[in-house]
Amino acid sequence: MSVRPIIKSDSPTLRMRSKEVKEITPALQRLLDDMLETMRAEPGVGLAAPQLGVLQRAIVVELPREEEEPLSGCPIFLINPAIVEANGEEERAEGCLSVPGYMGDVVRATQVTVEGLNRRGRPVRFKAQGFLARVLQHEIDHLDGMLFLDRLTSLAKLRKLPPEDGGWEYA
Ligand code: NI
Repeated sequence: MSVRPIIKSDSPTLRMRSKEVKEITPALQRLLDDMLETMRAEPGVGLAAPQLGVLQRAIVVELPREEEEPLSGCPIFLINPAIVEANGEEERAEGCLSVPGYMGDVVRATQVTVEGLNRRGRPVRFKAQGFLARVLQHEIDHLDGMLFLDRLTSLAKLRKLPPEDGGWEYA
């Protein structure tokens, strides 16, 4: 595993749509492991392959153990993820490892059902709510070339953070 550089929001790569993964290869599994290590090094709570410059539909999400959510402290790898059901709406602050130093209030579904393939290529389907649901929606947006900045209803929803304020809430 190795830490790779994270692409920032001025890169056109982050605005492109990622390709469906057709085959689970050792190279893809290495990419997933590197995504996890890179995310943990920041630290962040999620990372999408395009943030490492790879336009493949793959994400990783890992909430800190102290979060009161099921699956906290355990990495979730998802290949070709899709939201098949979404309910509720909530506006909360979120940040992005590709947009360092900023947080913004974004409206997201409070509960989602997600389908995809796990690290071994087996189909998975699960329900997520709250913070986990938010991070999943944020990462899946990355696969469609969308950043949380695009979902702000006004620029007043964006806040600049002091440089020393690096947070695990980045995704
Ligand atoms: Ni992000």
